[in-house]
Amino acid sequence: MKFNLFSTPIFMTNIDLDKINIEAEIVENKWYSNTNTSHGKKNKLSKDGYHYLMTTIAKTIMPVLPGCSKVNLLNIWKNKYITEDFQENHIHTESHFSFIIYVKGASKTVFFAPHKNLIECFYKESFFDQTYQSEFRPGQIVIFPSYLEHMVKKSSNIETYAGNLLITNIDEKKAMIEKVNDANGYVCE
Ligand SMILES: [Fe+2]
Repeated sequence: MKFNLFSTPIFMTNIDLDKINIEAEIVENKWYSNTNTSHGKKNKLSKDGYHYLMTTIAKTIMPVLPGCSKVNLLNIWKNKYITEDFQENHIHTESHFSFIIYVKGASKTVFFAPHKNLIECFYKESFFDQTYQSEFRPGQIVIFPSYLEHMVKKSSNIETYAGNLLITNIDEKKAMIEKVNDANGYVCE
C-alpha cells in the first residue's frame, strides 16, 4: 500500500476570457525580473467580470474549503512577457490562494515543491519531483495555495492575469465587504 501525505491542491478549469477584461492604468517593469506588470497599480474589473471570475473560482475551490467559507478577491493584475521576459521565483504573501489566468500564449509557469531544498540536500538522485513545468493554455485558470513557490521561464508574446484570494468565514465579523458596485465594478489599487 502507498499513500501520499500533505499533498498540495492545485485547481485548473476553463474560463471565458471574453468575460474578463482588466483595465490597468499603468504597466511598469517590476521586481528583479523587470516584469511588465500592473501589480500594485490601479486595476479595474467590470461588475459582471468580477462576478463571473469569483463564481468560477468559488465553484472550483469551494469543495475543499470548510463550510461557511467566503472567497474574497484581494487584488488582480496583468503581466506581459514581451521578448524573452521572465519572473523570478516567488510566493504570494498575505493571501491564502492565488491564481493565474492564461490570456495569450502557452504557460511558462514552473511550480516548486515546498520541500525542494530538503530533497536536494538528502537525495543524490531524483527520487521525488522538485518542479512541475505547467502546460496550461489560454482560456484556463490555475488556482494554487499562495505559499507555493513558482516562477515564469523566459517567454515572448505571453499575457496573463494574476490575483490573490483571502478565505474568510461568513460568520466572522471581519469578513471582507465586497468592493464591487454598478458604477465602477471592482477596483483594486
Ligand atoms: Fe506569482
